[in-house]
Amino acid sequence: MNKNKKKSIKLPKNQTLHQVKIAIVGHVDHGKSTLVGRLLHDTGSLPEGKFEAIKAMSERRGMPFEFAFVMDAFQAERDQAITIDAAHIWFKSTKRNYVIVDAPGHKEFIKNMISGSASCDVALLVIDGSEGLREQSRRHTYILNMLGISNVVVAVNKMDLVQYNQSEFDRVQKEVKEYFDNLGLKVISIVPIIAREGDNIVQKSKKMSWYVGPTVLESFDTLEILNDLENSPLRMPVQDIYHFDSRRIIAGKVTCGVLKSGDNVIFSPSNRKAQIKNIITWPEDFSKSRAKQGESVGITLKEQLFIERGELMSHISSPPLESNVFRSHLFWLAQKPLKVGEEYKLRINTFETSVKVQEIDRVIDTDDLSAGKEITEHLQVKRNDIAEVIFRSRSMLAIDEFSKNKHTGRFVLLNSNDIVAGGVISMKGYPDQRDLITEKGTNLYAVGHRVPVVTRVQRNGHYGGVVWLTGLSGAGKSSIALEAERLLFKKGYSVYLLDGDNVRSGLNSNLSFSPEDRAENIRRVGEVAALFADAGMVVITAFISPYRADRDRARGAMERINSEGPFHEVFVRASLEVCEERDPKGLYKRARAGEVSDFTGISAPYEEPEKPDLIVDTDDQSLEQSVDVLVQYILRKFQDFSEG
Ligand code: ADX
Repeated sequence: MNKNKKKSIKLPKNQTLHQVKIAIVGHVDHGKSTLVGRLLHDTGSLPEGKFEAIKAMSERRGMPFEFAFVMDAFQAERDQAITIDAAHIWFKSTKRNYVIVDAPGHKEFIKNMISGSASCDVALLVIDGSEGLREQSRRHTYILNMLGISNVVVAVNKMDLVQYNQSEFDRVQKEVKEYFDNLGLKVISIVPIIAREGDNIVQKSKKMSWYVGPTVLESFDTLEILNDLENSPLRMPVQDIYHFDSRRIIAGKVTCGVLKSGDNVIFSPSNRKAQIKNIITWPEDFSKSRAKQGESVGITLKEQLFIERGELMSHISSPPLESNVFRSHLFWLAQKPLKVGEEYKLRINTFETSVKVQEIDRVIDTDDLSAGKEITEHLQVKRNDIAEVIFRSRSMLAIDEFSKNKHTGRFVLLNSNDIVAGGVISMKGYPDQRDLITEKGTNLYAVGHRVPVVTRVQRNGHYGGVVWLTGLSGAGKSSIALEAERLLFKKGYSVYLLDGDNVRSGLNSNLSFSPEDRAENIRRVGEVAALFADAGMVVITAFISPYRADRDRARGAMERINSEGPFHEVFVRASLEVCEERDPKGLYKRARAGEVSDFTGISAPYEEPEKPDLIVDTDDQSLEQSVDVLVQYILRKFQDFSEG
């Protein structure tokens, strides 16, 4: 087998080699500048006379020459001439053109990376061989991963300080590999170098003949880079709608993917579908039938659809997901900490909306990825912290997970127009709600019942409605509901309990505990409960129902059938510690042991009700007391006072 096969440059047909962008990162003083100076010099990329000029200058000043001065010289030029791009340094090899994206400060680096202005193909991490991975190197590496730069060349510098020793190199290599493996990052190569002397940068080192891998430059030259902007699924946010002669023109910029006339597209979150008629450019080019990433175009549709600004257009076959809640990994830049309950402006490409911090799941310690900082109720995310935060928006968002789409899965947060954070979207633990809100049936004609609601109320002696119990497993939902059902029945109530474990062994036996299946579980139960209620019964439901959106939809199902909406959300509240201690089914123990996945409270989220109609605290209240609270509540709410 040809060993180099995997590393050959593979570009899709008809594509020219684009300039390879390298992000350079590393702990301060580990030798970034020297390495860049060397790369420029050794590849012959410095402008004529530049090297000599810098050398002469350092001699004049009585300083020994340092390659880092090359970087300093660039820096000085940048400071003087604002027209020079502040963070880009060009060099070339015989095979490729490169641009190094350097940011002098931590904050600038992150800002550049996050805003996408520096979306790099590969990163160069410089580590001091005598020191190994330091806090800043770890932090930078973590952010590289967060931002989807999965290719990293690691240069282990200052090998002269460890006497060119292979075992010292192996030690750093092991440390790097472990950290990278943990993150799921790919190391292209780990190269022992001496930036100052130029060893293993462009030329192979004679002092470290034990190293048989590629030099830094070879690592870049042989890297496989795919231009994935066009290969990604189509995303075009709708920026405006113009009425032009008799046409409605939808204008936007293609963020990624390719758009062709005749394509079947869907607009999210309205979920309206249409076919592209024409692609319009300014000035008009009637032969235009294709638009790709980066192009601003107008389109007309075959169908007359009412589309609003802010919707996201995609192909029907590969739509974004829809959710009003999402998880994010973010980097906090502002002085003022991020707190639960605060609202910020979310910006994804050109789309903006307001989001609220629902929960700070953990503040990630970049030194030890496995353990987050201790979580307290008043946890905040402070400047330069990386955190996992759950955001909620009032309306449905059309978004992508970063792992699926690098171009649309990242965002920035703004507070009065200042960038306060950058991050990436993950849906871990949360469902795509698209299927739940998509109506697939057509040609439906609903019938009206001939038994008026009031007649049922009169016969039963009480109103029909839903009493929706939500809470952690082991909080006491089923126990309370069973007893309440018995007592109410005794009082002559038409009452029925829909219980999670029961319904899941029949109607919902085909559903698992994945986020999507849980959401579907609750959707079905919400609909069934509403039907029972419409039939005049008091329906008590006992489901964990961990997502607010699902519970809201269950309320919506009731309101759709009866606009009075007799739906009561009851939070059966018990702390996770108490539920875990009770562990009636032994499931918490098994979940902790990793035998049950997606377990609510342990490895799956639970979103507490924001404004429940009733709270039943079971932490330190007896079962009897809890049942009494619930029964009294139901009697108050459902009794037909007009009776007798
Ligand atoms: S829900 O999240 O979809 O609303 P539901 O109330 O129907 O859950 O079912 C919860 C019950 O299923 C729990 O009381 C427990 O007995 C069982 N169960 C099995 N696996 C899990 C899991 N991964 N998470 C939570 N409950 C589970």
